[in-house]
Amino acid sequence: MTKKKLRSQAWYNSERIKDAFLHRSWMRNQGFPDHLFDGRPVIGICNTWSELTPCNHHFRKIAEHVKRGIYEAGGFPLEFPVFSCGESNLRPTAMLFRNLASMDVEEAIRGNPIDGVVLLVGCDKTTPSLVMGAASCDIPTIAVSGGPMLNGHYKGELIGSGTHVWKFSEMVRGGQMTAEEFYRAESAMSRSAGHCMTMGTASTMGSMVEALGLGMPHNAAIPAVDARRYVLAHMAGQRVVDLVHQDVRLSRILTRDAFKNAIRVNGAIGGSTNAVIHLLAMAGRMGIDLSLDDWDEFGRDIPTIVDLQPSGRFLMEDFYYAGGVPAVIRRLGEAGLIERDALTVNGNTIWENNADAECNNDEVIRPLDRPLTPQGGIAVLRGNLAPDGAIIKPSAADPKLMTHRGRAIVFESIEELHERIDDPNLDVDETCVLVLKNCGPKGYPGMAEVGNMPLPPKVLEKGITDMVRISDARMSGTAYGTVVLHVAPEAAAGGPLALVQEGDMVELDVPNRRLHLDVSEEELARRRAQWQAPAPAMSSGYQKLYVDHVMQADKGADFDFLVGCRGAEVPRESH
Ligand code: FES
Repeated sequence: MTKKKLRSQAWYNSERIKDAFLHRSWMRNQGFPDHLFDGRPVIGICNTWSELTPCNHHFRKIAEHVKRGIYEAGGFPLEFPVFSCGESNLRPTAMLFRNLASMDVEEAIRGNPIDGVVLLVGCDKTTPSLVMGAASCDIPTIAVSGGPMLNGHYKGELIGSGTHVWKFSEMVRGGQMTAEEFYRAESAMSRSAGHCMTMGTASTMGSMVEALGLGMPHNAAIPAVDARRYVLAHMAGQRVVDLVHQDVRLSRILTRDAFKNAIRVNGAIGGSTNAVIHLLAMAGRMGIDLSLDDWDEFGRDIPTIVDLQPSGRFLMEDFYYAGGVPAVIRRLGEAGLIERDALTVNGNTIWENNADAECNNDEVIRPLDRPLTPQGGIAVLRGNLAPDGAIIKPSAADPKLMTHRGRAIVFESIEELHERIDDPNLDVDETCVLVLKNCGPKGYPGMAEVGNMPLPPKVLEKGITDMVRISDARMSGTAYGTVVLHVAPEAAAGGPLALVQEGDMVELDVPNRRLHLDVSEEELARRRAQWQAPAPAMSSGYQKLYVDHVMQADKGADFDFLVGCRGAEVPRESH
């Protein structure tokens, strides 16, 4: 068998000796010896380490363990930084930069002498941005998540990242918690390296990486500070060298069956609504036909069996000890809900990896016949208010509000919501429907995580903790409530959401997947004729590129010009 020439050889063993000299010589200033240029696989370690992304601040140590594995397997590791979308600091929202980061990743891989890549991912957007960029190149790839923080504890209570920020801030607004107690809870929540340890977006995406077969078994749940996280990184480094030798590219892993598995696992873990948008974008890069309706079809009857916050009680550390994603996949697979032959990066099928997984705690990972929510998954709603779809996560919502008709309280922007929501004169009660506009991909821009609008104090004071809320925004994966999100088309793109007025009646019918604005067609036409698009926040720079090219939520909010796989053909020489 003729050995396939690796793409790195076009740099380090180029027939044009001047070019080969040039590429090798500058690398030698780092102290790399001759034998590393002998034709062995060059493995990029794509690192989102940043002190501005606290969830990924331990990634240089993870990279060192990946390197050990790569060297051990005869590869040549080279670590490189890419734009790191840190959720807690980046404004106006990290999502605005997901596509930008994916472009960085794609071009860094294609433009450099890289034969295979390990993606170091963790904080919410770092996972999809790196996977999207790698998918557009289609080289052998393994993703290694940084792992969740240790459980938070405060006053004898398990407290979860994000989830308790929402809960505690509502308690402060409702007068049940002091500002001093609120301040004390900060360091009790985030007490170790790692990403949010609720089943928020980061943990969900770590689980998606595992369910897609793109990560090693247990990728999602091993705590960031557990030594086994470093063993996993080591083994991923070792394994990616084999993937290069066997030419197992990402397109062999990210198949439609892999996405079906991920959608079902998302339902079972009660995963974040953000997974919808990210998986649609990832599939789009891989050229896989995945639609919003697939989320409903494959996820509809999946019971949520993982009892983690924000839907349930426990946290990621408990999930790992209970058996993690492998135990979930086993339970789904035994019920015929896993595409068993999907290939994973360690060379086994998903079923070979997980058929014997043990569940050590039936409270954390429940049996299918004793679920947290019988129909988990993501419900995709349609109707005259969302012709291209909207979503809701039933496991995080109040079952009593799944069918609801209420009077709309309308906020044209997030600023207006902040101005009015605490106003004692706001004419609102718990039967109303809060409607927020202009927070979608183009409108915010970047589709902010503001869909879980705070409740008005006059409702909170009655002890009521949930109301129907509708917007074109996203919601943090750590948040909860009867919150309809991702309404498409969004208000700023002229979707029907833009036409809702205060006092209109809105109908939510989750069992029948319907979202309806009870206003006549004639009246809506009259309002449409008067509607004017809001002025863009910025008329130049990256934000202009974003607003001009971002697609709607039902298409994954990727840029129209980034969809598809462009491969990793070696670019021409410039010297
Ligand atoms: Fe980084 Fe939650 S803020 S994962």
